[in-house]
Amino acid sequence: MALPPDAHPGLADSAFLKAARREPVPHTPVWFMRQAGRSLPEYLKLREGVGMLESCMRPELVVEITLQPVRRYGVDAAIFFSDIVLPLKAVGVDLDIVAGVGPVVALPVRTLADVEAIPDLTPDHVPFISEAVAGLVAELGPTPLIGFAGAPFTVASYLVEGGPSKEHAKTKAMMFGAPDVWDALMRKIAGIAAAYLEVQVAAGASAVQLFDSWAGALTPDDYRTAVMPHSTRVLEHAGTLGVPRIHFGVGTSNLLGAMGEAGADVVGVDWRTPLSTAIPQVGERAVQGNLDPTLVFAPTEVMTARAAEVIEAGRAAHGHVFNLGHGVIPSTDPDQLKRLTEFVQGYPLA
Ligand code: CP3
Repeated sequence: MALPPDAHPGLADSAFLKAARREPVPHTPVWFMRQAGRSLPEYLKLREGVGMLESCMRPELVVEITLQPVRRYGVDAAIFFSDIVLPLKAVGVDLDIVAGVGPVVALPVRTLADVEAIPDLTPDHVPFISEAVAGLVAELGPTPLIGFAGAPFTVASYLVEGGPSKEHAKTKAMMFGAPDVWDALMRKIAGIAAAYLEVQVAAGASAVQLFDSWAGALTPDDYRTAVMPHSTRVLEHAGTLGVPRIHFGVGTSNLLGAMGEAGADVVGVDWRTPLSTAIPQVGERAVQGNLDPTLVFAPTEVMTARAAEVIEAGRAAHGHVFNLGHGVIPSTDPDQLKRLTEFVQGYPLA
């Protein structure tokens, strides 16, 4: 896996990239999904009066917000501050992120014509992303930057439902009932995700994560037939860029094998599945996860005892990136995450 020739000398040897490559690490690397954002007072201050999507399009804000948790916690990786719907916004889809709700799409996608009306993404749509990534990489030095995209199923869910959904009923109705429209939509989103990841890696991101947060709504057969080929296209394209690929979803206990086979170097595991159960499913790949995000609300010694169990279980993968089993909950006390980071980084190697 290659890094750009002008990359910081320490980057290739960072604990995070070593774990992703399943090489011996100096300590168990740790970062947190949604580590930037509403749990941090310095984030809330910066975001005052600035809409979520607007903040994603202002490189100076993206750089600062992405760096905030790195400074505060000393985590082993930064995750680019953006959202899975940003590339859709950039190509012209009429959508917004509503505070406390999530992404809302003005005209939900239902027909082939709706799909065909969505432009493919080119680097010209997202110059602000390249600028923010390049600025971040310069600031981060030896700390890797993880770029990301939403996977086709999860992004399709927002486009078809028109907003957040529990059952994903309209999305799955299209998948079951209109396979030609579904296929065209999944291809469209996969192409956008692949191009969007390429922009981030070209500007200096040293790993990528594909978020298929809502894939757990699918049976293994439906996942393999109607979803996996499209995620595979995205991950295979990312593989040609020479960076490790993380693939994550929620409630995926019976999809982990397939999510690995789709082309992941690191399989992200949510907190419901013990790593000891997940690791045999993912085979010869690294794993990421998976402390229950609510454990930060327990006394510190309860949280760290559970973190130790996660680390011990992760050893069998010979490549473990510590994380929460889903995103940081906004009411999380940042001091607990600081203590958790220090605990994981200081925990003895086997
Ligand atoms: O440091 C980081 O990890 C933050 C970067 C980030 C955001 N969204 C910022 C954000 C990342 C990696 C995402 C990915 C994302 N967005 C996913 C996949 C990850 C996951 O949680 O499973 C999904 C499903 C989305 C869609 C989305 N966008 C949701 C469900 C929400 C939350 C709605 C809410 O308010 O509770 C958003 C909004 C969003 N994305 C916020 C942030 C900081 C909140 C913005 C605000 O209200 O100001």
